[in-house]
Amino acid sequence: MCGIVGFTSRETSAVGPLISGLRRLEYRGYDSAGVALESPDGIRVYKQTGKVAELDALLKRELPEDERGKFTIGIAHTRWATHGLPTTVNAHPHLADGGSLALVHNGIVENYAALRAGLEKHGVVFVSQTDTEVLAHLIAAFDHGDLLAATCDALKRVEGTYGIAVISAKHRGEMIVARKGSPLVIGMGEKDTVVASDVSAIVAHTRQVIYLKDGDVARITPEGVDIYSLDNAPVSREVQEVDWDIGAIEKGGFEHFMLKEIFEQPDALRNTIRGRLDAAEGTAILSGLGLSPRELAAIRRLVIIGCGTSLHAGMVGKYLFESLAGVPVSPEQAAEFRYSNPIVGPDDWVIALSQSGETADTLAAVRESIRKGALVSGLCNVVGSTIARETGRGVYLHAGPEISVASTKAFTAQVTALLMTALKLGRTRRLSHEEGTALVAQIERIPDLIAEVLKESDAIAKVAEKYAKSDDMFFIGRGILYPAALEGALKIKEIAYVHAEGYQAAELKHGPIALLSDETPVVALLADIPGKEKTLGNVQECRARKAPVIGVVTADDEAAAAAVDDFIRVPRTSVELAPILSVVALQLFAYHVARLRGCEIDQPRNLAKSVTVE
Ligand code: AGP
Repeated sequence: MCGIVGFTSRETSAVGPLISGLRRLEYRGYDSAGVALESPDGIRVYKQTGKVAELDALLKRELPEDERGKFTIGIAHTRWATHGLPTTVNAHPHLADGGSLALVHNGIVENYAALRAGLEKHGVVFVSQTDTEVLAHLIAAFDHGDLLAATCDALKRVEGTYGIAVISAKHRGEMIVARKGSPLVIGMGEKDTVVASDVSAIVAHTRQVIYLKDGDVARITPEGVDIYSLDNAPVSREVQEVDWDIGAIEKGGFEHFMLKEIFEQPDALRNTIRGRLDAAEGTAILSGLGLSPRELAAIRRLVIIGCGTSLHAGMVGKYLFESLAGVPVSPEQAAEFRYSNPIVGPDDWVIALSQSGETADTLAAVRESIRKGALVSGLCNVVGSTIARETGRGVYLHAGPEISVASTKAFTAQVTALLMTALKLGRTRRLSHEEGTALVAQIERIPDLIAEVLKESDAIAKVAEKYAKSDDMFFIGRGILYPAALEGALKIKEIAYVHAEGYQAAELKHGPIALLSDETPVVALLADIPGKEKTLGNVQECRARKAPVIGVVTADDEAAAAAVDDFIRVPRTSVELAPILSVVALQLFAYHVARLRGCEIDQPRNLAKSVTVE
């Protein structure tokens, strides 16, 4: 859950590109950062606890501009600590061989303790508590004149995940990179080559990229890039074009990436929908699924796997597939699924939801499902991500880059993609042409309906003002709005640090209601769909315990508005679209509460955008 960057050039200083690359990857981890630069007198390392800005300040103090030109090769890292506290000693890069070899790493070395003990037996002295330092010393131990061969020999002994970049004063002018389990992309510029954990640190330089695969090791020099397997056999990888531009990863005048991405949803969803609906046939196209109507009709059960917000989208998917296609669905938390020796097989369709396409638990659950012979598809936002490549079939969300750690547009795009998939599956079963056509018309309305919710942002900010001081909140909903309540609670937990719980509304009476008081606001999802009346009953139970209730109500539903203390309006819509509109309202509510509480919205404490370790 760290970010790594590497830069080689014939003439350009590496310092600037490394720092700007780290800034782009800061959402992956931000408790310490560092760079290592190859110089005529050896490897120079600068590292610092805290954000990339503090590392930049250190470099400004210690490496004046006029000196920077000679450093044309370097590696850099921004950290999310897993092994060893966020200290300067534990920050990357890590050194070995008397400081002549430097390495940065994203991932976890699971057998580091055994490797460390072995190296210590040979007199190697460790300075940090990290798992990563082992990699540096191991490569140095195998270095008999060929850095690539040394790296391969070392990595053959490593269990776990890694994306690494290595430079050495003994091997000037070259950088070795390798990946297994953690993402790594090479940007092929005209004069420079950039390596990074994801393309957001590369698009400023080039849009020609190579996505490394597990087991790939590459030697990068100003002359070019050569890729090998761990057994040193040459490997060829396709150069692909990135379809985002730099603008897509700027704030565009918004105070935070999260707010920008919330307001991008109408356009993002237009991209998710574009070219994927067949109004004439009343169905969805989704050719990336690569499944024939016969294969779709043969599916007996669906399993939707994911973590966090993606899991919540999967839980909404359950209601969509079961109502539209009549197929039983079990949404599964990926870590639980993968370690439960899951019962899946050839008649099952496993859909893996992941915005980043790199979440370790979801990736492992995908591999377990493939191993058990299930049909496995991915729904991912990041093109070329590991889950997308390993499933080999699925739906790209095309929601554009999501920089803020709190996932927003990916959720609404995931639910919309699941709705289109349920439509396609439903049309191979009981969903009629008329019903299909009506659903197509609804789906096409999603972007405009979201735009309606966004117009309520100021009104939602007013409600947030009233409750921003509350440290405990409940979110309740029924049916398809239950996972929406879970998502609302997750958003306010992760960006506003409010202790919030999401519940199926009827569940309160079975215990949690004991916690209610005038200090525990309850957010009730009351869109005018089946289940609303029952939820209104639960609202009365909450108010009877003096808990203030904020209702997310249908715009023209005055009765529901009158039944709560405060309300947020969403446009009237169908059951299928209700969770999308309600969650957009909850994203804004969480955003404004976090803003009013002065929280670090785009980089909440203790979190990272893509969780690439278990
Ligand atoms: C959501 O706001 C969080 N960032 C987190 O729960 C996230 O949804 C989860 O880590 C899954 O990420 P993915 O969709 O990239 O797999």
